[in-house]
Amino acid sequence: MEEKIYYFQKPGKENTEKTVRLALERAERKGINHIVFASSTGYTAKKILETNRNEDLKLVCVTYHTGFYEEGKNSMDPETEEFLRRKGVRIVRQSHMLSGVERSISRRLGGVSRVEAIAEALRSLFGHGLKVCVEIAVMAADSGAIPVDEVVAIGGTGRGADTAVILRPAHMNSFFNMEIREMICMPRYKRR
Ligand SMILES: Cc1cc2nc3c(=O)[nH]c(=O)nc-3n(C[C@H](O)[C@H](O)[C@H](O)COP(=O)(O)O)c2cc1C
Repeated sequence: MEEKIYYFQKPGKENTEKTVRLALERAERKGINHIVFASSTGYTAKKILETNRNEDLKLVCVTYHTGFYEEGKNSMDPETEEFLRRKGVRIVRQSHMLSGVERSISRRLGGVSRVEAIAEALRSLFGHGLKVCVEIAVMAADSGAIPVDEVVAIGGTGRGADTAVILRPAHMNSFFNMEIREMICMPRYKRR
């Protein structure tokens, strides 16, 4: 079987529109009806809503956990969240699977956990976007927002989107059952 992979020269937000277009096209062509994506402020989520023409596609937006930047505060403003929900987007907001409480221990006591090592390996070898695809797939599966069956996942580097894959998600307690089935797009260089 042959499939195309689109390579961006560099990671970053400027790749969002192309990533979204390629991801939606692939989902449509493969008959995949769930797309899970990272969106901290709603920027990527709105691009997906503007571009998507498939009414059967279930849109699942994973956003930063409350308190990521500031205690008790959300990264997405309430108006944007309400708008997305009204358009049928399911919002997932929960503890980040590839950092968890371990991040507090590393920050306070130093060292690094095994989970953080997995995250760093994914980020360094494949880019931040791929690490995010993996992480949000587990978060969405553990929230019951996506099935443990092929979905399209989209991640980015800090802002927007630059990586899309087809993957089979897994739950947190069976992480190694995850499979990246197809790369749709990714940056060639992983760091700016
Ligand atoms: C759970 C979660 C974890 C993320 N981890 C990273 C990361 O490790 N590195 C990174 O560059 N971006 C990370 N991001 C950012 C996303 O990849 C993406 O670029 C961003 O959420 C898009 O937000 P926007 O639509 O508001 O621009 C993360 C986002 C979420 C929701």
